Amino acid sequence: MRKVTLMDVFTHPVAQKYLTRSGVAHAVACAYHAYRLAIKAGIDPDMATKAALLHDIGHYEWYTDGEWDYDKYKQYDIHAIKGAERAHKLLIRLGEEPKAAKEIALAILLHTDSYLPEGDLEKNKLQRIVKKADELDEEPGGNHHYRKIDDRLAIQKIKQLDQMVDDVRLPMTKTV
Ligand SMILES: [Fe+2]
Repeated sequence: MRKVTLMDVFTHPVAQKYLTRSGVAHAVACAYHAYRLAIKAGIDPDMATKAALLHDIGHYEWYTDGEWDYDKYKQYDIHAIKGAERAHKLLIRLGEEPKAAKEIALAILLHTDSYLPEGDLEKNKLQRIVKKADELDEEPGGNHHYRKIDDRLAIQKIKQLDQMVDDVRLPMTKTV
């Protein structure tokens, strides 16, 4: 049995605060993409779904004179750094295994390379999956951050995904 479920993560006030800012619908969609990609890659979907769910919790807004300032955002954005830190703190607080919390935080840190120095980083499977899951749900102009989802439907989808993760983990953990 997993120590921390997606429901534990999703319903925590810290996650709720930041996910409503960056888009609950986007977070849930990415978690589902990450599940499929993890299964396809033959890795445990537990960390992939958690990382994808939390990948944007470091988002904040840049305003100049009350107006959204995209240039400023592009220039100063560190949402992946903030997100990795927030996710790590939240997961540890919930009782996540420290190794898993670190892997999840690293995948969040590397989910976008817009702020990283030039050059190719060699990413592991989990890190590539979280990046890909995000890209699969992207809409032009950042619209994916503003797509709406009903609260009850979001909870229902998270519960269902928890069940899906548990179902594949059973045979996986048996072989270890
Ligand atoms: Fe995203």
